[in-house]
Amino acid sequence: MDNKLKVNGLTFVPFLREEQIQEQVKRVAGELRRDLEGKSPLFLCVLNGAFIFAADLFREAGINDAEIAFVKYSSYQGTQSTGTVKQIIGLPENIEGRDIVIIEDIVDTGLTADRMISDLKKRNPASVRFATLLHKPESSKTGFVPDYVAFSIPPKFIIGYGLDLDGKVRNLRDIYVNTED
Ligand code: IMP
Repeated sequence: MDNKLKVNGLTFVPFLREEQIQEQVKRVAGELRRDLEGKSPLFLCVLNGAFIFAADLFREAGINDAEIAFVKYSSYQGTQSTGTVKQIIGLPENIEGRDIVIIEDIVDTGLTADRMISDLKKRNPASVRFATLLHKPESSKTGFVPDYVAFSIPPKFIIGYGLDLDGKVRNLRDIYVNTED
């Protein structure tokens, strides 16, 4: 069987199967359950890419007192004329004293993660934990290390299980890797 997938002229092959993904989701969920015992955490799913991972992880963690909110980075023109500023939208008004768990799809350079954590810390949460489906440690520009990682992978372009190429193929149950990388 030809397992190759063509998306926007690029070729992808299977990299992580649904069963492997679910196995690691269960492991990370177990670690979160252990570390958050007795707490009422607030999970923050970073849209769009993390929505499928977040849904699986949130249910698998099985913490009835946990809440979830959906946040997104939006770029807007700052008041200064140079560059764009990124801002988190959708964050609940008050996170003071809350135990936060950020759920991301992938940490590449680590720049998004660093910025998000420093923004959140200004609002005085009790704790901030960071869970990611995928981590590309070799691409790091910040030295940021996520607290929970389902898979550490080489610096190649990945699609499926929520991750997109130009908005497409988020629906795939398996994760695929670009062969041109
Ligand atoms: P960072 O700030 O460089 O860590 O970027 C993280 C963001 O880049 C992720 O949330 C994704 O939106 C995007 N990204 C990085 N690598 C990939 C990939 O392999 N496939 C799809 N999106 C990616």
